[in-house]
Amino acid sequence: MQVLGIDVGGSGIKGAPVDVEKGELLTERYRIPTPQPAKPKPIAKTVAEIAKYFNWDGPIGVGFPAAVQQGVVRTAANIHGKWIGTNAAKLFRKTTNCPVKVINDADAAGLAEMTFGAGQGKMGVVLLVTIGTGLGTSVFTNGILLPNTELGHIEIGGEDAETNASDAARKNDDLSWKEWAKRFDIYLNTLEKLLWPDLIILGGGVSNKHEKFVPYLNTNSEILIAESFNEAGIIGAALAGRP
Ligand code: BGC
Repeated sequence: MQVLGIDVGGSGIKGAPVDVEKGELLTERYRIPTPQPAKPKPIAKTVAEIAKYFNWDGPIGVGFPAAVQQGVVRTAANIHGKWIGTNAAKLFRKTTNCPVKVINDADAAGLAEMTFGAGQGKMGVVLLVTIGTGLGTSVFTNGILLPNTELGHIEIGGEDAETNASDAARKNDDLSWKEWAKRFDIYLNTLEKLLWPDLIILGGGVSNKHEKFVPYLNTNSEILIAESFNEAGIIGAALAGRP
């Protein structure tokens, strides 16, 4: 079965048709810069543009950078506040004329990794952290997702973890990889004390630079790198979009 997977990010909105049995992109992904300000209407228009680019009239799954309950957006850390309370699934259905399901972006990446990537067959508690503009998390127990964990926003030392330890923080604060890894390590250690994961999977934009920071991490849990790197968001969104 083919589902169009779309990943809405802070800087780009990317999509591609996905073979959801194989977990593979069927074509090159198509990317459009995220319109600014990232309000509902312009984003919905962009999502529709991506569907149109692929002449799509089938099911669509969208990964969205916020907590999403039954299609309704509940938080807005890296998107416009106007999203809060918006039924994103309904809005995207309207602009694309296709059946659409919407899921948190980190949960989407987690689904992809648990189904086809580093988490395949992993039992126990698995924590996936996506490192990008935000810090996204997804948690699985024996392969079952606990949706919408917003663990990028736990407070450490009185500060939002994402503000201190995301990839955006590394860039904003002009940190070396080692300096940033120290912060990220404190973040992971804090999560470990709260969740006791058996495995941590690191994904998101910087996961393909893992050799620059993973050697500085001192976690108790095993660490694996997401196998589909940046494509996990699109593949996982497509999995969530299955009718
Ligand atoms: C949002 C999460 C999202 C993460 C990654 C955070 O700021 O609160 O919902 O998963 O960024 O995009």
